[in-house]
Amino acid sequence: MAKDGNNGAAEFLPGRLDLVSLRRAAASCRGCDLYRNATQTVFGEGSRAAAYMLVGEEPGDQEDRQGHPFVGPAGHILDKGLKEAGIRREDVYLTNAVKHFSFTLRGKRRIHQKPTAAEIDACLPWLDAELAAVKPEVIVVLGATAARALLGREFRVTHHRGEPVPLGEALAVATVHPSAVLRAPDREAAYAGFLADLKAAASVRGSS
Ligand code: URA
Ligand code: SF4
Repeated sequence: MAKDGNNGAAEFLPGRLDLVSLRRAAASCRGCDLYRNATQTVFGEGSRAAAYMLVGEEPGDQEDRQGHPFVGPAGHILDKGLKEAGIRREDVYLTNAVKHFSFTLRGKRRIHQKPTAAEIDACLPWLDAELAAVKPEVIVVLGATAARALLGREFRVTHHRGEPVPLGEALAVATVHPSAVLRAPDREAAYAGFLADLKAAASVRGSS
């Protein structure tokens, strides 16, 4: 028999692929081993009519506890950027490439661990299903993990950030992850670059 937790998410997809059914089914996904230590699946949130889909990496510590994407420090920077770029919250569907928090323990502290390529691949059926359900006009790719999931291994965020690239029926605009803004030595400059990319994403829609 196949080993539990290593076959990917595909076999956990529901018959009906609307967001409500997807969210319910994802709650019991065991498509990779990350479900074992995390608190819960953190599925995407937002309207199925959203024009923008924003894709992050994976839930962080706060997201894992609360069950919602981008509610911790990275989420605060993201909210600020969206507001300043003129992207309204009701136009946004917010999700992550990987739906469970990956971490290592250091004492009692849970230290964020980047998802592996295998975990990103395992979780991709959920992201693909969200894309099919929402059909966004613009996909904002937040950092290297989301880029790996959506734009392939070769795509380099640093080379192509802020540039609209076709992705299915949509246009994708990649930028750095908001956590990278928080960690940057020159945080102000990093935020300015992040905001410029979000504005580029907003103008893609404005011009379509
Ligand atoms: N970082 C992410 O990539 N996603 C979240 O939801 C929170 C932090
Ligand atoms: Fe399933 Fe994704 Fe969680 Fe792995 S990370 S168990 S594939 S929802």
